[in-house]
Amino acid sequence: MDTVLSGIRPTGYLHLGNYFGALKNFIRMQEENNCYFFIADYHSLTTHPDTKALHNHIKNVLIDYIAAGLDPEKAVIYVQSDVPEVCELNLLLSMHVYVGELQRVSSFKEKVRKQPDNVNAGLLGYPILMASDILLHRADKVPVGKDQEQHLEMTRDFAQRFNSFYNVDYFKLPLAYNFGEQLVKIPGLDGSTKMSKSDNENSCIFLSDAPELIRKKVMKAVSDSGPTVPNQEKPQSVENLFSLMQAVSTPDTLAFFENQYAQCQIRYGDMKKQLAEDIINFTAPIYEKIKFLQNDHDYLSKIAKTGAEKARENAQKTIKDVREIIGLKHL
Ligand code: ADP
Ligand code: TRP
Repeated sequence: MDTVLSGIRPTGYLHLGNYFGALKNFIRMQEENNCYFFIADYHSLTTHPDTKALHNHIKNVLIDYIAAGLDPEKAVIYVQSDVPEVCELNLLLSMHVYVGELQRVSSFKEKVRKQPDNVNAGLLGYPILMASDILLHRADKVPVGKDQEQHLEMTRDFAQRFNSFYNVDYFKLPLAYNFGEQLVKIPGLDGSTKMSKSDNENSCIFLSDAPELIRKKVMKAVSDSGPTVPNQEKPQSVENLFSLMQAVSTPDTLAFFENQYAQCQIRYGDMKKQLAEDIINFTAPIYEKIKFLQNDHDYLSKIAKTGAEKARENAQKTIKDVREIIGLKHL
């Protein structure tokens, strides 16, 4: 059985992008694999150092995970900082990672632009910590969206480098897990190319949004004044509405509005109404489950505790092996 691992930063609620990028195939994944799903709270500190909201966000991500179909009986669900073994692996791997290669990572360069006042070393080391998450459980497959492709490629590089430096075949080289489909990137409602809770909450439709709120958000989504020439190229904001529709609506609905656009007959109001209803249809079962789980604190804390125990057990084995491979010995 393969090992699958994925993480999500607790910087807010889970949104449609997280769902289509990392959660969509939960049911199949946990039946066919040995799954680890964790909440990457250490990672969120690189951009969200203020922890006032963190605890609540961790709880909400856990609720969203379960509501979206993750089954704590089948998958190990844990909070990253409950498994501090990852920090040791992070340190040991970092000895084989070069500052120059970290400085060239696109997500790092983007963060330098976005938060020039807080270019912390955690941001630079972000890919090492992510590789440590994955290698700690010797994962084969990692369900991620397109934005994580480069981080995953670096994980393979670091694993390969470790193996060849110590002349072992210990770490597997993990692959993105997308069930043979292209990696997706769900766009934002604000006209941006990526729906992201960490970058802009206003770009997101959360799985926990009530139907009324979804309608309001979609109706307010950025569009333009409409095409004037048949088959005109779409601006980003309009392309985004179509991409969202592609994710949640039927092919017939999508084809109908594509056709309307091509013939310059589109009414964005109608399209948005349809899109909102299709999103609501899609999120309704998850939304209901979220409401149900929200107050069951004991159940949630039991899941986190059991998950941490199982994850630590596996992590400790890896750390023991890695120490041995490196040649760290007690006096
Ligand atoms: P965010 O950017 O909202 O903070 P995370 O960085 O926590 O989201 O992402 C968690 C997972 O969800 C990752 O696997 C990431 O690739 C995926 N993901 C996030 N946003 C999107 C998106 N807009 N489209 C597809 N996948 C996404
Ligand atoms: N870097 C991921 C993101 O920003 C979150 C993450 C941290 C992750 N560690 C991971 C994803 C390990 C997959 C596997 O979305």
